[in-house]
Amino acid sequence: MSSKEKKSVTILTESQLSSRAFKDEAYEFYKELRKSQPLYPLSLGSLGKGWLISRYDDAIHLLKNEKLKKNYENVFTAKEKRPALLKNEESLTKHMLNSDPPDHNRLRILVQKAFTHRMILQLEDKIQHIADSLLDKVQPNKLMNLVDDFAFPLPIIVISEMLGIPLEDRQKFRVWSQAIIDFSDAPERLQENDHLLGEFVEYLESLVRKKRREPAGDLISALIQAESEGTQLSTEELYSMIMLLIVAGHETTVNLITNMTYALMCHHDQLEKLHQQPDLMNSAIEEALRFHSPVELTTIRWTAEPFILHGQEIKRKDVIIISLASANRDEKIFPTADIFDIERKNNRHIAFGYGNHFCLGAQLARLEAKIAMSTLLRRCPNIQLKGEKEQMKWKGNFLMRALEELPLSF
Ligand code: HEM
Repeated sequence: MSSKEKKSVTILTESQLSSRAFKDEAYEFYKELRKSQPLYPLSLGSLGKGWLISRYDDAIHLLKNEKLKKNYENVFTAKEKRPALLKNEESLTKHMLNSDPPDHNRLRILVQKAFTHRMILQLEDKIQHIADSLLDKVQPNKLMNLVDDFAFPLPIIVISEMLGIPLEDRQKFRVWSQAIIDFSDAPERLQENDHLLGEFVEYLESLVRKKRREPAGDLISALIQAESEGTQLSTEELYSMIMLLIVAGHETTVNLITNMTYALMCHHDQLEKLHQQPDLMNSAIEEALRFHSPVELTTIRWTAEPFILHGQEIKRKDVIIISLASANRDEKIFPTADIFDIERKNNRHIAFGYGNHFCLGAQLARLEAKIAMSTLLRRCPNIQLKGEKEQMKWKGNFLMRALEELPLSF
C-alpha cells in the first residue's frame, strides 16, 4: 500500500459491515480491496480494532496461522478481559468455534461421528420426505416465499431431529439464532438480544433436564452422557455445543438454498442448463457456494503474537476477519470470478472455511441443498421470481449473506 493510498482509507465499523447498503455494494468494494488494500482497517466497538482480509491466498494463509486464536482468553490476560456485553451470552460461548487446540479437538471429536459422510447419507430419505411435505403445502397456491416456506424450515427440521428437539419449538429458534448472530452494539438491540438469549438459555436448561430424565437415541442425549461422565464436557460446554449446532445447522443452509435459487433465477441460461442436465447439480451447488457465499465473513480471530503482512504490522490483540465472499471472487484463483457458471472447473472455494475450523456440517449442508434444489426444480419446473430481481433485498447482517425473502411463482 502506498502512503497516498493509506491516507485515503477510512475505517470500517461493525454497523457499516452489518448494513444493507454494504451488502449491496460489497462485491465491487472487495474487488477494489483485493487490488489495492488487501488489509482494510476495522474498528469493531467493544471487540477492538483490526483488519478485513480480502484475498484468497491471504485467507488460506491466515486460516491456518497458529498466531491467530479463536479463544479470547488465549490472547488477553484476565485484567484485559472485556466485559460481556450480553450477560446471558456467557454460558453459550464455550463451543468449538470459540476454542483452540487442545480444547477444540476434544469438543469436535465428541460430535464428529454424527457428521461423517456415511452417517449423513442415512438421512437422505428423511430429508427427501421433509422437502416433499414442505412443497405439498405451497403447491396448490402456485406461490411461495422460498425463505419462510422452504429454505428455512428444511434445515431446522433436519438439525432438530438429529439433536432430538421437539419440532413445535423450531419457530422460536429463528428469533433466538438471529439474536446470537447479531453483532450490533446499539443499546436497545443489546437489551433485546440479552433478553432473547436469556429465554434461549432457559429453554436449553429445561430441554437438558428432560433428556436427563428420558434419554433417547439423539445427539443431545449422547452429549449429556459425555457430560455426566465428567471428563469430556462441562455443563457450560454442553449448552454452548447445542447452541452452536442449532445456529450453525440452519442459519447457513437457509442461505445456500435461497441464494442458489436466486442466482438461478437471475441467470436463466444456467437454470435451463441445470434442467437439461440434472447431473450438474453437485457442481451447481459448489458454484452457488462460491458465487453468493452464505457465510460472507468468518467469525472473529484474535492475534496472539504480532506479525507482518503486506508490510503492515498486525499487533497482538488485533482482530482479523476474513471475507470468504471476497476470497471466493478472487480473479487470481477463479477466472471470470463474477460470472455464475454451474460448470466451473477446479472450484476451490472456501465457503465452508478452511483449516481447523472447517465446517463440521459441510456434508450435511451439501446433501440438504442437493435434495432441496432437485426437488424444487423437479416439482416446480416453471419457477420464476415474483417481482424484479432488483427488488430482492439483502439483509443487513454481519456474518451472513441472506435475502430478506424470495417470492416465487410456479
Ligand atoms: C451452506 C451451509 C453452511 C455453510 C456455508 C457453513 C460455513 C461454515 C464456515 C465458514 C465455518 C467456519 C467459520 C470460521 O472459521 O469462522 C463453519 C463452521 C462450523 N459449521 Fe458450518 N456451514 C454450513 C452448514 C453447517 C451445518 C448444516 C452444520 C451442522 C450442524 C454446521 C456446523 C458447523 C460447526 C459446528 C462449525 C464449527 C467447526 C469448528 O469450529 O471446528 N455448518 N461453517
